[in-house]
Amino acid sequence: MPLDKVIDFSGVPVFQRDALILTDVSFTIEKGEFVYIIGRTGSGKSSLLKTLYAELPVKSGSAHVAGYDLRKLRSREVPYLRRKLGIVFQDFQLLTDRNVNENLLFVMKATGWKDKRKMESRMEDVLEKVGLGTKGFKMPYQLSQGEQQRVGVARALVNDPDIVLADEPTGNLDPESSRGIMNLLFDIRKSGRAVIMATHDYSLFRDFKARTLKCEKGKMEALKYEIN
Ligand SMILES: Nc1ncnc2c1ncn2[C@@H]1O[C@H](COP(=O)(O)OP(=O)(O)OP(=O)(O)O)[C@@H](O)[C@H]1O
Ligand SMILES: [Mg+2]
Repeated sequence: MPLDKVIDFSGVPVFQRDALILTDVSFTIEKGEFVYIIGRTGSGKSSLLKTLYAELPVKSGSAHVAGYDLRKLRSREVPYLRRKLGIVFQDFQLLTDRNVNENLLFVMKATGWKDKRKMESRMEDVLEKVGLGTKGFKMPYQLSQGEQQRVGVARALVNDPDIVLADEPTGNLDPESSRGIMNLLFDIRKSGRAVIMATHDYSLFRDFKARTLKCEKGKMEALKYEIN
């Protein structure tokens, strides 16, 4: 896989257990690209993202993500793949019993960080990046929904991932907070990372134009034209 391709899928079926959700998925994504995945509810957007982060297995075809061959990936290697990915969820998935700093430290410890000073400096960097430089000591319930999702984005960035995967990241947000999150996600791509976002939220497409892939009738196809 050439270095600038961070995802390269060819002829990959997407399964949920024995149910075939998408057939013959083929696409590539390069560094610095932002790509939408759209499609109706149940069309397979989340299943595709789960396949990318090795939550669902690749049973045939050829599938490379961030330098890993998913067909050859052993379960003990999954954490190494995940360190190259940042994942943002619709419902934020913050730990509600600890503050923002502790949420980020938790992920860093779980992914092998040891040096306390480096952890704190990285934590400050990512919070600064998402505009929450002064809110590290807040508990999740003391933050607005939009701020909680900013923490979700900060957490996705701590390990300096090659790819950010976002599954309906604006699904629980009002329009203004959604735009804030979109600006962050569009910025992330400028630093050479790829961003893939599954969404229903067509109102974003006018101002945040990007390449779009659509899941429909068991297939994922590139839309020929950007939606305006
Ligand atoms: N854990 C699971 N076990 C079995 N089948 C599942 C599971 N999760 C999803 N499915 C099935 O896979 C299909 C695709 O679901 P998926 O969640 O990928 O759709 P989606 O496009 O993300 O939908 P939404 O827009 O509602 O999030 C659906 O038919 C769903 O019922
Ligand atoms: Mg989904």
